[in-house]
Amino acid sequence: MHRLALTEKELGEIRLLVREVAARHSSVEGADFLDNVSTYAHEMPRRLRVFLNTFRLTEPSGVCLISGYPVDDARVGKTPRHWRKKPDGSYTMEVDVFLNLCGALLGDAIAWSHQRDGLICQDLVPIEGHANKMIGSGSELELVWHTEDASYSYRGDYIGLMCLRNPDAVPTTFALIDEVRLDLDRVEVLFEPRFVFRPDPSHPTDSEGEKASVLFGDPRFPYVRFDPYCMDRPETDEARSAMDYLTRAIDENLTGVALLPGECLFIDNYKAVHGRSSFKARFDGTDRWLKRINLARDLRKSRAVRKAPASRVIL
Ligand SMILES: [Fe+2]
Repeated sequence: MHRLALTEKELGEIRLLVREVAARHSSVEGADFLDNVSTYAHEMPRRLRVFLNTFRLTEPSGVCLISGYPVDDARVGKTPRHWRKKPDGSYTMEVDVFLNLCGALLGDAIAWSHQRDGLICQDLVPIEGHANKMIGSGSELELVWHTEDASYSYRGDYIGLMCLRNPDAVPTTFALIDEVRLDLDRVEVLFEPRFVFRPDPSHPTDSEGEKASVLFGDPRFPYVRFDPYCMDRPETDEARSAMDYLTRAIDENLTGVALLPGECLFIDNYKAVHGRSSFKARFDGTDRWLKRINLARDLRKSRAVRKAPASRVIL
């Protein structure tokens, strides 16, 4: 994994920047913040900018971890019971700003109009009625690994997660496609655009999904788009067997990291699949709480389905 531990000096610079930006804006959802966040990010410590730029440009790994940002558990307040319930106080605003500043060094944050009210910076918290659902707000069911928003060609290039609390050390799981040994014959089949992707349960839409390849890019170091739970079983034996082969190979390479408060994990949505282990939620304000953003390297690709050049919401 590509890792960076922030130094005290860097944290001093970050704290000043985060406070200044947090004081200028009422939330990270507004255009006033989103139009300026990539400019503010120019003021992050250079080592952090180099680290994220290297992750973006040379693809040294499918995931990277930034640690050291201090999170004060008392000031975080209670874990909300629902992602719609906004935590009060300015402290979580600072955390949102930090995650978004890091994210802006990789791309522009995007949201989906039909998912979580079009929010950019989302609270990943267990919801009482969702315990047995296989979605981000579930808990007792393992969230099986997947490419984020696999059925959409406008899916993000990166997912950013920041941990506010994780008392039971619940792992965020992932597998890196570069670490999966692939048989060349299967790779060839998986490169063919014959796999049908359907929207996952977090996208209540009437979209029919898309037909595409599972692997793409350089066959030696392929990119991956894969979510077996939300794909049709292919019609031919050859395609079915290639899909099952890749599923097993990813299963064997699945690993994970239990994020600590303050840690930011960026997942390259082309180079890694990700999920979450199951856990027993308490629903008493002390549960696991992560922040999530989705980032696109090139906003223009989705211009046809956004209202304005700088709008972040995909309709
Ligand atoms: Fe996900």
